[in-house]
Amino acid sequence: MQLLRNKVIAEGIVLSNKVLKVDSFLNHQMDPVLMKEVGKEFTSRFKDEAITRVLTIESSGIAPGIMTALELNVPLIFARKQKSLTLKHDIYVEKVYSFTKQETNEITVAKKFIDPNDRVLIIDDFLANGEAAFGLARIVEQAGAKVVGIGIVIEKSFQPGRQLLLDAGYRVESLVRVAALDNETVTFVEEEDI
Ligand code: G4P
Ligand code: NA
Ligand code: NA
Repeated sequence: MQLLRNKVIAEGIVLSNKVLKVDSFLNHQMDPVLMKEVGKEFTSRFKDEAITRVLTIESSGIAPGIMTALELNVPLIFARKQKSLTLKHDIYVEKVYSFTKQETNEITVAKKFIDPNDRVLIIDDFLANGEAAFGLARIVEQAGAKVVGIGIVIEKSFQPGRQLLLDAGYRVESLVRVAALDNETVTFVEEEDI
């Protein structure tokens, strides 16, 4: 997605060879016009999938998630994160380990918001190791529903998440694919169709 790539070039800050800061349009301040285009792009890529719900995780997945859900005319659910949890029977719970933050969160979704006949599109802002995406997919599968795909705003292609998700059989659509963050420069995966 050229518009998003241009935004990363203009405003992304390379914090290290692993971390890209995009707090001017995605992770702190949010750009609603850009997010609207993000929603349209995901919708066009998944238009034949008869999606019934979009699932993301708080907090930074909510903006791209809601714009995609709006365009698809379906509800958005965001999984909640909490450190630890007393067991409850009315929620799905999955553990998600973050290598970046070196902490485990439990993510939860109320059972009433996913039905077995749902066709769910998972959306997230970043894809690194894929832990969040796998946790969300496990929740959909606990509900007996179908993961039709995973839509990512910014994929760090030098980390293993994409390949692990593909190996597990999921369709992954990333709007921007970052090949490297070396020398304080963002290098993109070359693709014909941007
Ligand atoms: P993974 O799910 O793919 O395994 O990723 P990881 O655990 O490494 O991600 C932990 C958090 O860090 C996530 O946000 C993720 O979006 C974010 N993240 C990972 N890599 C980058 C990066 O290069 N740049 C930025 N800006 N964020 C990155 P989170 O803790 O869920 O926070 P929130 O922003 O959604 O509230
Ligand atoms: Na994030
Ligand atoms: Na996220």
